[in-house]
Amino acid sequence: MTEDTRSWIRSFPTLGGAVPDLGPLPDSPITKFLEWLEEAVAAGVPEPHAAALSTVDSTGVPDARFLILKDVTDEGFWFSGDVRSPKGVQLGANPVAALTLYWREQGRQVRVRGVVREGGRVLSARDFRERSVTARAVAAASRQSESLLDPQEYTAAVESAVERIESDPTYVSDTWRAWCLAPDSVEFWQADPGRRHLRWVYHCDQDGWSHHELWP
Ligand SMILES: Cc1cc2nc3c(=O)[nH]c(=O)nc-3n(C[C@H](O)[C@H](O)[C@H](O)COP(=O)(O)O)c2cc1C
Repeated sequence: MTEDTRSWIRSFPTLGGAVPDLGPLPDSPITKFLEWLEEAVAAGVPEPHAAALSTVDSTGVPDARFLILKDVTDEGFWFSGDVRSPKGVQLGANPVAALTLYWREQGRQVRVRGVVREGGRVLSARDFRERSVTARAVAAASRQSESLLDPQEYTAAVESAVERIESDPTYVSDTWRAWCLAPDSVEFWQADPGRRHLRWVYHCDQDGWSHHELWP
């Protein structure tokens, strides 16, 4: 199977089709990111706000999972989840992370690295309340990433959480968190069909943002 699998995987096309230009480079990578996000939405990229969040566990081993970006502000890139989950524990012990987005239809990748902080009770509660009843119930009931030995226990816990939320729509799980990744570097990668890809990285220091090109 190995040779067949290798040939099969190597036959998959990558980075085909027409892609846009990199576009102008404003002073702030946040401005650039929001421009690209708007262009991704206009180009019909599905779930353009899905991003891979990479963290590091207590033994130094990386971990990554997709999640949904909730906001992008001058402070940084916002996402949310349960503080007891592996990502929450990892961020508590080592509050640094990377967020990576790939917009296939446009041959674009964005890589964000920086320090993560909790957004505080008010913003976490607002994020929780903006979820659907079911999403709130799942978040409240779930012991996320623990072994699920009895699926019926999960169903019963979600049903009970739905009842609780319907009887008290102001209920907020006290383990829900909004986190903000404050970037210290942001890279914009633009595919070129001729393989002369373009890469520009922004770095932040005491004088603010600067950017330069990278070898592809
Ligand atoms: C497209 C997509 C969006 C997701 N959005 C979130 C999210 O916003 N928050 C979250 O905690 N998990 C989200 N998940 C689930 C995570 O990928 C992951 O399974 C979960 O957070 C547990 O990760 P952990 O064990 O590393 O903490 C999403 C998964 C996918 C595929």
